[in-house]
Amino acid sequence: IPVDDFDLVIFGATGDLAHRKIIPGLFRRFVAGQIPDTAQIIGAARTNQGDEEFRSEAAKSIVEFGGVDKSDPELARFLPLLGYVPIDAKGTGGWKDLKSRMRKGAIHAFYFSVAPSLFGDIAERLAKNGIADAQSRIVVEKPFGRDLESARALNKMLAQYFVEEQIYRIDHYLGKETVQNLMAVRFANILFEPLWNAQYIDHVQITVAETVGVAGRGSYYDKSGAIRDMVQNHMMQLLCLIAMEPPYHFDPDAVRDEKLKVIRALEPVSATEIVRGQYQADEESDGYLVDSENPDSRTESYVAMKVRISNWRWQGTPFYLRTGKKLRARTSEIAITFKEPPHSIFEDAGTSGAPKANELVIRLQPNEGMNLKVMIKEPGPGGMRLVQVPLDMTFADALGPEGADMPDAYERLIMDVIRGNQTLFMRGDEVEAAWAWTDPIINAWDESKTRPEPYDSGSSGPEEALRLMHRDNRRWREIRA
Ligand code: BG6
Repeated sequence: IPVDDFDLVIFGATGDLAHRKIIPGLFRRFVAGQIPDTAQIIGAARTNQGDEEFRSEAAKSIVEFGGVDKSDPELARFLPLLGYVPIDAKGTGGWKDLKSRMRKGAIHAFYFSVAPSLFGDIAERLAKNGIADAQSRIVVEKPFGRDLESARALNKMLAQYFVEEQIYRIDHYLGKETVQNLMAVRFANILFEPLWNAQYIDHVQITVAETVGVAGRGSYYDKSGAIRDMVQNHMMQLLCLIAMEPPYHFDPDAVRDEKLKVIRALEPVSATEIVRGQYQADEESDGYLVDSENPDSRTESYVAMKVRISNWRWQGTPFYLRTGKKLRARTSEIAITFKEPPHSIFEDAGTSGAPKANELVIRLQPNEGMNLKVMIKEPGPGGMRLVQVPLDMTFADALGPEGADMPDAYERLIMDVIRGNQTLFMRGDEVEAAWAWTDPIINAWDESKTRPEPYDSGSSGPEEALRLMHRDNRRWREIRA
């Protein structure tokens, strides 16, 4: 279904995110028939250039990052939607021109694809020049602050010009198809929900492993580290979707209320239940200290932790989180290990022993899908021997080529902004609650002056992280593609 006519302004339109994700994503939605021919996509940035130059840069990005052929006729149809206004975010230049381009009657959305230090300047100029009105939407990117105090200040500042219903805080993980599928699996099936609690679930593992390092973005990353870059936002969102109570309706505030309750129920994490790591150099590539351009850095490129949720549903079921750079494989998954059956009837001679625990693995990327491990009888006359087999469902196999053709997270989220649907965006109080939980972890770390554990590039992280699990008689799932 096409969205209503809109004018989308991208601040920071010459930047990396705009060219890698936003513009190619908009092109794909256009090809899918979701963007009306009359819509305007207006780039705004410091660079002094005209519409034509911006269009030709955009075309290059669509070809390079969208895998589109230069001569694709759709590209020629799409480019006239684009325009460009040179703008001075901290001054007066360009704002009048921008205002004159905005059409009455169209939806107005403003994407702040810029450093957070510019959010205030842009918001103020949009409001004071009468460019944004009460129906306008603004989209802000992470990092949304670097601690509770700065996140609060950002929220306060935006609140001077926009109400919460106009503010779309992006966490691109929420735009991932499989992440939304978590909600579908939980709340559109009767099978899982009755077992979805501490009585039946032994523990949960959430893994977001990456093979890339931080070279090229070291100066940003080194001030951030894995907790700020991944845990406070992306992993927190995954944790919330697994742990939350069923919302009464699939509606923005109903869903976000439930997520917020999970965050508020998180127990503080003690220093003994958290492991940080830093990747080392190998023959082919540099280690973190070189990539981050900070030879003395204590910033973590890996973190593993044991998280407890203090509420009725999860009392006694730990959630183990780990994420890191330069690991063995790029893989993101959530693994739910159920408890073993309370009594085994198969332990007599002639059997292969007790049943093993069921496990449900939801793969976010790559090969999006689900895998449920169940016990069955091993075929053959050898008696009642048990074997664990996977009930494996890869979405691409189950749903055909369309199942494999998943829209990128950004495409879906931008369309949601135009539709005015905030369900997959973070509310201000949610972001603050997440910082309120991560702040003490980060502060304790800063005060301790200890160093992250070294780990080999291409490994599955520091040894110490293994012990975090072994102490509880559990083990991490193997990291593999
Ligand atoms: C970003 C982080 O938000 O998410 C990056 O800043 C990380 O460090 C990226 O690599 C991971 O996203 P994805 O979609 O590739 O899993």
